[in-house]
Amino acid sequence: MASQSLPSALLDPASMDGVDLDHFWMPFTNNRFFKQNPRLFVAARDMHYTTADGRQVLDATAGLWCVNAGHGRAAITAAIAEAAATLDFAPTFQLGHPLPFRLASEVARIMPEGLDRVFFTNSGSESADTALKMALAYHHARGDHTRFRLIGRQRGYHGTNFGGLSVGGIGGNRRRFVSQVWGWTTCRTPTGRRCGFSAGCSRAMVAWPRNWKNWWRCTAPKRSPR
Ligand SMILES: Cc1ncc(COP(=O)(O)O)c(C=O)c1O
Repeated sequence: MASQSLPSALLDPASMDGVDLDHFWMPFTNNRFFKQNPRLFVAARDMHYTTADGRQVLDATAGLWCVNAGHGRAAITAAIAEAAATLDFAPTFQLGHPLPFRLASEVARIMPEGLDRVFFTNSGSESADTALKMALAYHHARGDHTRFRLIGRQRGYHGTNFGGLSVGGIGGNRRRFVSQVWGWTTCRTPTGRRCGFSAGCSRAMVAWPRNWKNWWRCTAPKRSPR
């Protein structure tokens, strides 16, 4: 199984000796408890993990739902290696390369009709925040500045970033952070930006965060938000 194709040092329980558990701060984990009772995998193949002491453990969650095709699939490993060797990274800010376009086309092909624009993210949390931003940007772009409220559901989980926490409904995740997101009223722009909204106006602009979304607002009375 897994042991045949992996460096033996990875599978040797002795290789765990001297591993310092101190510095890695584990997400969604009671770190103190874990570090007193570490449960470490050292390899995986198909549906199983291999523990540091050589036991096979069925992976019933497909990683964290991100290894749905199984662990260590040769074709996937080869594709990752080939991609890294050919072009490991190219920016997508003003530049590009063919693969994300090809992947986006493939995603669009299998999506329901009308859902044919694809924006790639690195995690569910980033996806949730991006979706919230898109919803706000959509109404903003069509000139409707009044639709800015975001509605979340009790017990909903939308990741661990501020936007997702704000619409999420898991108390423990919200308690410490969300009030700081929703609690803002106004604050001065740190850049000292000046208004140029109408001729002759050069009053200070303030950042006016409303529901975690900022927009600039002139401090002159009776002006619309910009
Ligand atoms: C609906 C939803 N939003 C956000 C997330 C967070 O994903 P990630 O852990 O990749 O940030 C998840 C993860 O399960 C999710 O199911």
